[in-house]
Amino acid sequence: MKHLIAPSVLSADFANLQRDIEMINSSAADWFHVDVMDGVFVPNISFGFPVMEAIKKYATKPLDVHLMIVNPDQYIERFAAAGAHLITVHYEACIHLHRTVQSIHAAGCKAGVAINPHTPVSLLRDILPDLDLVLVMSVNPGFGGQKFIPNTYNKLRELKAMANDLNPELIIEVDGGVGIHNLGELIAAGAAAFVAGNAIFAAESPIQMIAEMKNLDPGIKTI
Ligand code: DX5
Ligand code: ZN
Repeated sequence: MKHLIAPSVLSADFANLQRDIEMINSSAADWFHVDVMDGVFVPNISFGFPVMEAIKKYATKPLDVHLMIVNPDQYIERFAAAGAHLITVHYEACIHLHRTVQSIHAAGCKAGVAINPHTPVSLLRDILPDLDLVLVMSVNPGFGGQKFIPNTYNKLRELKAMANDLNPELIIEVDGGVGIHNLGELIAAGAAAFVAGNAIFAAESPIQMIAEMKNLDPGIKTI
């Protein structure tokens, strides 16, 4: 499968949101990555339903919604109604993760689980067969533009091996400090979907950067 590119709307210009959404529509990107932060699970607040509905109004590609919020269960149906295609919750925020994953599926969405940099991938073993996606955080969540944490490569390799056994269809996504400089190595480590905020929106030509990331051929056989 060709790798997927998910530009993070968090790095867009919110005063020109429609313009930036249309840029992504006409680019080689696959998904819109939508970061929802509650100021409790992470030390930052991003946006909620009104902005997400505004994104949905113009977006012509699936919304990949990353919930950095405590107690996501109470909002699953609203995020589904607001247009989420994929809903990712944090392992660290869910006491009854299996139930949460079931609710996401019941709401008609694909289900993902995100893990923070300190959370071992081995903790996902029993939930892995139920998931469509695992989001490996390669920075501590909360802000765009942070530095990539290199231990992510080890986590990706371990997760890919586990997925080969338990859920070969699983999409492994990486989020934080991802750009054209580390994309090839991340693909080789087993990731297939890439969130990028700063790398795309700080580029001279965001649309060209998306094309470069999408067309990158790592030239390495993945495990
Ligand atoms: C961080 C968010 C990311 C962020 C990535 O908490 O989950 O999606 O927007 O931004 P960059 O690509 O700039 O690290
Ligand atoms: Zn994210």
